Amino acid sequence: MTRSPGVTLRDGTRVPALGLGTWRMGESPATHDREVAALRAGLDLGMTLVDTAEMYGEGGAETVVGEAIAGRETVAGREAPFVVSKVYPHNAGERSAVAACKRSLARLGVASLDLYLLHWRGRIPLAQTVAAFERLVADGLIRRWGVSNFDVDDMEELFALPGGDRCSANQVLYNLGERAADWRLREWCRAHAVTLMAYSPLGQGPLLRERKLAAIARDAQCTPAQLALAWLLARPDVIVIPKAGNIAHVRDNFGATNVTLSASVSAALDAAFPPPRQPATISVI
Ligand SMILES: NC(=O)c1ccc[n+]([C@@H]2O[C@H](COP(=O)([O-])OP(=O)(O)OC[C@H]3O[C@@H](n4cnc5c(N)ncnc54)[C@H](OP(=O)(O)O)[C@@H]3O)[C@@H](O)[C@H]2O)c1
Repeated sequence: MTRSPGVTLRDGTRVPALGLGTWRMGESPATHDREVAALRAGLDLGMTLVDTAEMYGEGGAETVVGEAIAGRETVAGREAPFVVSKVYPHNAGERSAVAACKRSLARLGVASLDLYLLHWRGRIPLAQTVAAFERLVADGLIRRWGVSNFDVDDMEELFALPGGDRCSANQVLYNLGERAADWRLREWCRAHAVTLMAYSPLGQGPLLRERKLAAIARDAQCTPAQLALAWLLARPDVIVIPKAGNIAHVRDNFGATNVTLSASVSAALDAAFPPPRQPATISVI
């Protein structure tokens, strides 16, 4: 079986660099079976990291993921799924996070989450969220925790808190058209052993219709989606989580693992989608 390239987390755990997103899944019974089939196809290809959140479909996406991964951890020779979910900021208090996590676990049908993220910063003090996450780790309900939509200033504030430097990952908007993370954040995360997870790697679709991307993809003999993903996969230690609601898109995205960016293609992408030249802050979708 082909495997996607891997990323090593701060605790030494190896996970696939190319995973599966799930935003907009679990919202309609009409698309349920197609979504489960798409996730299973991705898991079969080795895209065994699945990213979800209690927010997506108000629990509906976690239910779809639960159905897709059911029984997979027990099948010999198959990589167990690595499940990432996120807590709403308003549920990220010392007691509310434990309750929210248990609801997510029930919908996913698993005993513990591999990674639990604060979806974005809210009003609950970060120190309380860190305490809640550490409690969940101690109780065995999550294996590790992280944050999402944190820029460098947020990360520095987090790392100044007791236990804050145990953050494993930061999930942010990062794609060819949204390169603010290239200003400082990506390097900050690398230096502090925080794995960067690139969300909306396909720009939620519109990026793929950009003529300049299509032209470079033609030269590179791959699809625009594969080129957008390969550009991210070429960055060491970045996890990439495209969402695909059908099997054809999953297969197309997996093809990115076979795309090697030549120097001329990389240069053409940098020219068409330049990195920030002045201080830039990450956007939030
Ligand atoms: N932490 C956060 O705040 C945050 C925010 C946004 C996203 N996320 C996570 O990141 C994941 C990915 O981001 P995203 O869903 O916003 O956007 P995305 O992955 O950049 O794009 C998804 C869109 O691209 C389409 N697509 C997928 N593969 C394609 C292909 N090969 N060719 C053409 N179109 C393709 C999908 O259509 P189909 O569905 O029809 O396949 C869907 O419309 C999310 O699902 C979620 O897990 C996290």
